[in-house]
Amino acid sequence: RSAGIIGAPFSKGQSRGGVETGPDKIRAAGLVDRLQQQGCAVKDYGNLTFEDIVPDEPVRGSRRVRAVGSANQRLSEAVQAVKKDGHTAVMLGGDHSLAMGSIHGHAAAVGPLSVVWVDAHADVNTPLTSYTGNLHGQPMSYLLYELQSKVPALPNFSWMKPCVSSQDLVYIGLRDVDPAEHHILKLLGVKAFSMSEVDQLGVARVMEETCDYLWDRAKKPIHLSYDIDAIDPSVTPATGTPVVGGLTYREGLYITEHLCQTGLLSAVDLVEVNALRGRTEADVHSTVSTAVDLLLGCFGRLREGNHLPDYSLP
Ligand code: ARG
Ligand code: MN
Ligand code: MN
Ligand code: MN
Repeated sequence: RSAGIIGAPFSKGQSRGGVETGPDKIRAAGLVDRLQQQGCAVKDYGNLTFEDIVPDEPVRGSRRVRAVGSANQRLSEAVQAVKKDGHTAVMLGGDHSLAMGSIHGHAAAVGPLSVVWVDAHADVNTPLTSYTGNLHGQPMSYLLYELQSKVPALPNFSWMKPCVSSQDLVYIGLRDVDPAEHHILKLLGVKAFSMSEVDQLGVARVMEETCDYLWDRAKKPIHLSYDIDAIDPSVTPATGTPVVGGLTYREGLYITEHLCQTGLLSAVDLVEVNALRGRTEADVHSTVSTAVDLLLGCFGRLREGNHLPDYSLP
């Protein structure tokens, strides 16, 4: 297995500065070295650069639409290139609006996907239902085939085509879902394990049921879109929209271990790490190091320990 890392230092899908430093913070915590130490080949494609688009007046109440559209078009192309090079794509965000380009590019390169969306939020608002006007709360609405009649055309989004079926999507960790989003999830019958189901079933059964559900039709490459705010803010406080009552560190990690062991993990997003949102250095450290650990879990790190196949006992 090999990782192709793309940094996406982009924050305009929401209004809080700092999330654009996510990629460099995660790298500075040793991601590349630690992946290599566990036997994973790594190619770091560096950070994307995004054009500053002015003016970028709100459209249907949503902000920075043109910037989000253009950044995601670039990201989609970058993910396609990483997939063509044969790597598991790792997109370091940045805010969660970047899932549009990441999932679009992944699907463009490999075809139909299963999407596992680990998040406190469903991020399935449309510009017409969003209370906040932030596009990081809307990416799934543009990705789902079934919602296309409900999303308006936006400037710099003409490249964006829906590529995910509502039956190929599973949410894990939900606990802050807007009324319109809840309506959409019920209307489309989207499989979702809210924190209540995690409490009820335990994370091991949640992951078993997630995979059984996704594989019912066919085993497809998995896109894991991991919002760091899925984890409880006592562990990962440095994020823009923290919500109490989240996954423990161990539950969060188990999700990555389980998906890694399917052998189908084909792309991972790790988004919404915002170093400026921590109150203390310890807050930031805990958030960033959890992000690194989640990524290591995606590439085969086991808590029981690992050794390389060519290890010889001295
Ligand atoms: N539901 C809220 C909204 O639409 C919050 C979304 C938070 N999303 C995130 N990627 N952190 O704005
Ligand atoms: Mn979230
Ligand atoms: Mn999110
Ligand atoms: Mn053991």
